[in-house]
Amino acid sequence: MVWKKAIEDAVAKTLNNIDRFGDRFPHVSQNGVYRQIENNDWTNGFWSGMLWLCYEYTQDERYRAAASRTVDSFRRRLINHVVLDHHDVGFLYSLSAKAQWIVEKDEEARRLALQAADVLMKRWREPGRYIQAWGPAGDPKEGGRIIIDCLLNLPLLYWASEQTGNPQYREAAATQADKSRRYLVRGDDSSYHTFFFRPETGEPIGGATHQGYTNGSTWTRGQAWGIYGFALSYRYMKEPQYLETAKRMARYFIEHLPADHVAYWDFNVPVTPDTYRDSSASAIAAAGLLELISQLNVQDPERAYFQEWLVKSMTSLVQCYSTVGEEAEGLLKRGSYHVRGGLSPDDFMIWGDYFYLESLMRLERGIGGYWYERD
Ligand code: GLY
Repeated sequence: MVWKKAIEDAVAKTLNNIDRFGDRFPHVSQNGVYRQIENNDWTNGFWSGMLWLCYEYTQDERYRAAASRTVDSFRRRLINHVVLDHHDVGFLYSLSAKAQWIVEKDEEARRLALQAADVLMKRWREPGRYIQAWGPAGDPKEGGRIIIDCLLNLPLLYWASEQTGNPQYREAAATQADKSRRYLVRGDDSSYHTFFFRPETGEPIGGATHQGYTNGSTWTRGQAWGIYGFALSYRYMKEPQYLETAKRMARYFIEHLPADHVAYWDFNVPVTPDTYRDSSASAIAAAGLLELISQLNVQDPERAYFQEWLVKSMTSLVQCYSTVGEEAEGLLKRGSYHVRGGLSPDDFMIWGDYFYLESLMRLERGIGGYWYERD
């Protein structure tokens, strides 16, 4: 089966990468080779998550030992407060410490993930009632900004309420999801990357972009974060509007795909033979669709439609965008980080590799990611 072959290839590459990366973390590639960074960016958790996925699949101790070392690194990062002044604490600690807790019920890892949830809560801004994406409190440029990517940070908060019985985390997360639904998702089911509020009052100002083509365009990866993020909010909260929003965003994503079912970097960018793709957006959307499908009633008339697209898109990723059968560090070619900003427009992205692997594992073995507790 096509998924199994792709997984076997991915776990072999990940094993090779353990020695290559040592205590450093892959970020995005340059000339086909991953830039290795310290544990100080928003992307570090994805390598940890890949190691936990490979360990669950193979039960090979080498992955477990490497994954556990990354969690030690995340412990030091929290103690020393290394670059945690952004909302991506949720990405970082869900796929590292929370993953360790989910995989092997390690109490220290659970405590670390709960401490991370407290760090994330410090970004809650009461006047506006939202989670500030970037920058310190009171920052004149960033103080009123939310971004759609934040939806993937919310599972850490929902989970913290489940674990502690303290409803504050969940209330903040659901309020952020509601605000994102209202202000980031547009009437035609497309999305803004980012939205600004007046920090003192919470009064809405307007939508904009950071990594998209224009302020009013739909950045593909943002739309993908929305599909997965709302499906996850639905899993925790069971509020039907989150499921409906995930479906609307998924339909938009699917209906605007090119013939090979893998997205360009923005849905509104003029397409020429040189237009960059963002394979990582398609990998995130696939993982989001898997989550969405898992929550749809078997009688839901759209289930088959979402399933059909999921298989088409994943098949295209494996056959035309992956490095299966090639010598490479990365798994998924042709991701783009920030095209207008000139940052890695056509490279491996570690989050693309992570979501591609998460999707493959779920398709083949039913092993999900580390966004929520397993049944
Ligand atoms: N969350 C940052 C990005 O998707 O580029």
